[in-house]
Formats: sequence, C-alpha cells, structure tokens
Amino acid sequence: MTHVHVVGFGMGPHHLTGEAVAALAATDYVLAVRKGERDELLDVRRRICAAHGVELVEVADPERDRDDPADYPGAVKAWHHARVEAFANVLEQRRGTAGFLVWGDPSLYDSTLRIIDQLAARIDLTWDVVPGISAPQLLAARHRIVLHEVGQPVHVTTARRLPEALDAGERNVLVMLASEASLTTLDALPDWRIWWGANLGTDGEELVAGSVGGVLPEIRAARDRARDRAGWVMDAYLLRAPSEKS
Ligand SMILES: C[S@@+](CC[C@H](N)C(=O)[O-])C[C@H]1O[C@@H](n2cnc3c(N)ncnc32)[C@H](O)[C@@H]1O
Repeated sequence: MTHVHVVGFGMGPHHLTGEAVAALAATDYVLAVRKGERDELLDVRRRICAAHGVELVEVADPERDRDDPADYPGAVKAWHHARVEAFANVLEQRRGTAGFLVWGDPSLYDSTLRIIDQLAARIDLTWDVVPGISAPQLLAARHRIVLHEVGQPVHVTTARRLPEALDAGERNVLVMLASEASLTTLDALPDWRIWWGANLGTDGEELVAGSVGGVLPEIRAARDRARDRAGWVMDAYLLRAPSEKS
C-alpha cells in the first residue's frame, strides 16, 4: 500500500504550517517534476526537502504538445496522463509514504489532486491533503482587506475568463492567472477599485491598490519590477465595482 500526503507549502519554506511540517516528517520521499535547466519551483521544493531531511525524487516532465492551441484541453489531458504514468511507476516501485509539494494551496488552480485521482484509479493508493497559504489569502492579508462585503459573494476566476464574469454581472471578482496582455481588460473599468499583488510572500513582493484608472500604469510598472527582480512574475487581484463600499 502507498500513502500520499499532498502538502500545500504557501509561497516557500517560511509558509509551511505546523501540520505541513508534521506531514513531511512522516514522508519517506517527495515526488516532483523537473521541467528543465531553470526551474524555480523545483528549487523551492529542493530547499524544503533538504531542510526537512526528506528525499526528493525528480521525474522528468513529459513533453506537452503546444502546437495545436485549438485542442488545448486535449493537450493538457494527454500531458496529465503522461505525468500520471511517470508518477505511478515511481510509486509502484518505492511504495511507502510519498509526498507532493504544492505551491500555495492544492484547492486553487492546481492539478495535483486531479493527478492523484488518476493515480488512485491505477494503483493501490490512499491520500490526504494538508492546506497551504494561497495567493488570495496572502493578497487579502497584505492589503488588510476582507475579500467581500458583509454577507456578499466573491467570484474567483482566471484573467482569461474575466470578460465573461463581467458580462455575467459579477461585481466583486478575484482574478488569478493574470498576464500582461490580460490587463487590457481593466482599461474598460477605470472607476472600479483594485487590490493587486505580485510575487506575494517573496522578497520581491509588489502591492498596488486604488481606482483602476488611477493605478493601472503603476501596476504595469510594478509587474515589470517583480519580473526583473525574480525572473518570473505571478500576480492576482481583487476587483470591486464602484457602487460597493471598500
Ligand atoms: C497555477 S495558480 C496556483 C495557485 C496556488 N495553488 C494558490 O493557492 O495560490 C498560479 C496563479 O496563482 C496566483 N499566484 C500564485 N502565487 C502567487 C504569488 N506569490 N503572488 C501573487 N499571485 C500568485 C497568480 O494568479 C498565478 O497566476
């Protein structure tokens, strides 16, 4: 029998919860994909495993077909399937208690739990999940805000789907998986409020808040600064329609 701890580690070793530390202490080895020469996310996992005395088993990431964007879901499915095969081989060989380390929390825009479901359909497996600090939690904490008005909803979506959320009448939206290009959607919302953050929880953290029209240039500059400093940028933001109170 093989058991797996799926452990959210927030934005790095400094965010590991007590529960995550206990799970790592009970883990024989951690599995992670290796994407190429330069892989910051793998480096973080290496640091965590070294600090907690857990062996890291690196599996080469299967090739992903990026040639046919029309079949994006099909390409992602095939890629996930190949990852499952690679992980299943290691788990079947080594058994014991394995770990997967997940950036932020496994419940948000992360495929680890879907991969585990597929693994469980293929091999004898039990698993549990240890939550980590997610980007939306950090965003709220850094800006010292509640993500919604009293008793009101917050709609969580991707930057790609933001136009669709706005068309549907959403007025308090938490946006993830942003990109430079997707910021153009904000041009049409000058009087909305925004609470934005990039590379939260890292040394190069950037924060901007205000009316969209007033701070959009500042956000673009801060985004560039975050990327220049870290070599990568991940940002998330809360958008609120003008009639709502902040
Ligand atoms: C693949 S998702 C992973 C989310 C992660 N599981 C979580 O719980 O936050 C990546 C997206 O999360 C957000 N994100 C992750 N880390 C971030 C950070 N340190 N600062 C700002 N946003 C971050 C960004 O929107 C990024 O595009």
